[in-house]
Amino acid sequence: MLVLLIWLFWCPKIESQSLGPAITSARALDSMLQDFAYRAFVRPRPRTGIPYDGVPPSNLSGIQISAMRLRSGSLFTRGVRVYKQLTIPIGVIEKPYVERLVLVYQNLGNWSTKYYPLSGYMYLAPVVGLLAYDASNLSATNLQELYIRASNEPISIEFTRIRPVPDGSVARCVVFDLDGRINFTNVMSGNKCMTFEQGHFSIVVESTAPLPAPKEQPPPHRDGGGNSSKGWIVLGSVVGGVALLVLLALLILWVWRFNKRKKMHHMEKAADAGEALHMTTVGNTKAPAATTTRTQPTLETEYVP
Ligand SMILES: *[C@@H]1O[C@H](CO)[C@@H](O)[C@H](O)[C@H]1NC(C)=O
Ligand SMILES: *[C@@H]1O[C@H](CO)[C@@H](O)[C@H](O)[C@H]1NC(C)=O
Ligand SMILES: *[C@@H]1O[C@H](CO)[C@@H](O)[C@H](O)[C@H]1NC(C)=O
Ligand SMILES: *[C@@H]1O[C@H](CO)[C@@H](O)[C@H](O)[C@H]1NC(C)=O
Repeated sequence: MLVLLIWLFWCPKIESQSLGPAITSARALDSMLQDFAYRAFVRPRPRTGIPYDGVPPSNLSGIQISAMRLRSGSLFTRGVRVYKQLTIPIGVIEKPYVERLVLVYQNLGNWSTKYYPLSGYMYLAPVVGLLAYDASNLSATNLQELYIRASNEPISIEFTRIRPVPDGSVARCVVFDLDGRINFTNVMSGNKCMTFEQGHFSIVVESTAPLPAPKEQPPPHRDGGGNSSKGWIVLGSVVGGVALLVLLALLILWVWRFNKRKKMHHMEKAADAGEALHMTTVGNTKAPAATTTRTQPTLETEYVP
């Protein structure tokens, strides 16, 4: 019961640290953008270390994608000094090992909040993605991402033209890993986020004030719906938690009273047995009699230790 209670109180917290169901559409987007980024390699053997800008599908206009083909050895020994907003230091390794890989850069622009909804926070910059794939077949689709890790210094993502930080707020970097887990880290040099792994990144502030009422018809069941349903979940778990707490208190009280009653019962029983006077027969009648002589009364003054 206690475990359940603790779980209930922790549950919303854990949920707020992950992207939740939105990860499915975010992963589908990654897959589609991999395909469209690879299409930027028009030549069969594109040059290595050069960014090729891709064209996203027309229903996703506003997103920027780019692809860079690299030899794995060169990535490790030289890094990439400038790749769009990214600076990749030396010492980056990929798992599993491939001879050549493609680094896909994504800038989700005005689609950031759609694919990476983050309730309670406001984006100051668009979400930027860095993903790595095997470069052995440049027509391949549905590729599995490679796991890249900076073994030395972190990879840096520089955000230019971030929205001004509201008074009293602190800008934080937000990091989404490929499973939708969310971490917050400090912003470096005013506009940079650091990472040791692939993922999606942006700069956010906590939105303390309630969002102003939408001026126009809000898009159907987007952020608003998610927020209110999240609100209901939180409210529900709080009410549930309080109810459970009351139940727990009642249970403890009941157990306590049950134990007390049991003890009393035992005591009464013991008293009944213990206090039963031994009967002795005197003539034809039974009379109580003490079996043994009790402690001899002594005067306190006679007591010598
Ligand atoms: C965009 O169009 C592609 C086909 O080109 C389709 O597979 C995809 O579901 C569409 N995406 C959105 C977000 O409408
Ligand atoms: C983003 O902007 C483009 C125009 O640049 C527009 O076509 C698209 O619908 C916008 N996306 C969202 C989610 O509002
Ligand atoms: C590359 O991938 C495409 C699409 O999956 C496939 O049709 C093609 O056979 C692959 N080429 C090689 C050399 O594996
Ligand atoms: C978040 O931080 C923890 C602890 O530093 C780390 O183990 C985890 O990999 C990080 N996750 C992401 C998505 O960066």
